[in-house]
Amino acid sequence: MNNTIPYIHVGSGNFSIQRLQIIIDTNIFTPVAIVDLDKKKTYKNLSKINYKKIDLKKRIFKTISEAHKKHEAKACFIFASSDSHANLCIESLRANLHTYCVKSVALNKIQFKKIMNEKNKRRNLVFFQGYNNQWNEASLKMQEWINSKDGIGQMIGGKCICWGRQDLSRLKNDDHLVNPGMFFHTLACHQLSQLIAAKGLPNYVTSISHNHVSSELGYKKVFGTTGGQCIFEYPNNVPFSYIGSRAAHSNPYGFASRWSGQWIIHGKNGDLIRQGGRLTLYKKGFSVRDVYLKDLDEKLKTDEIPQIKIFHQLIKKNKKMKKFEENSINTWVLLEACNESARIKKRISLKDFKKKLLKNK
Ligand SMILES: NC(=O)c1ccc[n+]([C@@H]2O[C@H](COP(=O)([O-])OP(=O)(O)OC[C@H]3O[C@@H](n4cnc5c(N)ncnc54)[C@H](O)[C@@H]3O)[C@@H](O)[C@H]2O)c1
Repeated sequence: MNNTIPYIHVGSGNFSIQRLQIIIDTNIFTPVAIVDLDKKKTYKNLSKINYKKIDLKKRIFKTISEAHKKHEAKACFIFASSDSHANLCIESLRANLHTYCVKSVALNKIQFKKIMNEKNKRRNLVFFQGYNNQWNEASLKMQEWINSKDGIGQMIGGKCICWGRQDLSRLKNDDHLVNPGMFFHTLACHQLSQLIAAKGLPNYVTSISHNHVSSELGYKKVFGTTGGQCIFEYPNNVPFSYIGSRAAHSNPYGFASRWSGQWIIHGKNGDLIRQGGRLTLYKKGFSVRDVYLKDLDEKLKTDEIPQIKIFHQLIKKNKKMKKFEENSINTWVLLEACNESARIKKRISLKDFKKKLLKNK
């Protein structure tokens, strides 16, 4: 229990309230206050929470600063609307709080630079972005096969496809629809965070954004909101392609997100195929492993826990976890580089792009 870190919880929508319970259940963070602009809704939604230690209904605030003035905390978890994330991250870092924010921390380069500027002034603070699709059994097995001799050996090329169907016509002015570039930041992120976890940042990206209008699904031709296609170049000229669309096929229940992705990856010692939870490893023309593992958990519950634990370890200064913090930042950089390439119709060097984004003012 000594390891429990007091923290401020931002957001009280459905997803956020589920995360609150998940964090409470880990027993390594203690929520000391909750922040949301809508206090009434927060009060109501807190009834869904099983937590006896502190009566959070008496500790609802409209800003992180107000909450922090009244209640001592060391960290802050943010799960609010994406368009408010950048300002909330900045407020949290300025309050000297280790900051965890669900994707996407920023909607554009200006916001991202502002956050990183604050972070760079406080090198002792952890800044972690939550991407929850890379921790499930199926993804971890894929990462293992990509990176081991027993798996595919050195990667020589690969591809990932994602065809989610998202009907956004129900949501008025949803972030996904009205902010340019949100396809990569809010959908492709679920697959490409896995690629970063396995292989790190590529050297280059060339990308094209789909330009699809669909009144039926609510797509409005806002740049980079519908889908995208790109090719990454890893060292030694190793290519990796990605194709993703929101306007794809559904299942008999009317909805299929297929966040995990469909993958084919070739290596010097073998090849792998993955469809969601099913993975097959081939060597010399034969399938040598064929497994069906758990991918997405209901409500993404178990998918969230590893990154909450990593955030805790980072605060406790476990240096082995540093790569995960870096991966979470690199994922944002990669997604925005995909947007940048599509925007300016050029091949982007990730090294140069990242350097510019992280440059101190
Ligand atoms: N797979 C995933 O990682 C995944 C899945 C679902 C949702 N999400 C993300 O989680 C976040 C929260 O989801 P949700 O369903 O709970 O959202 P929601 O839209 O139901 O609720 C957002 C809440 O944020 C509050 N808010 C907005 N601006 C604020 C501000 N400046 N200060 C304080 N509170 C503010 C609103 O009042 C609202 O209660 C979203 O960014 C969403 O994209 C991620």
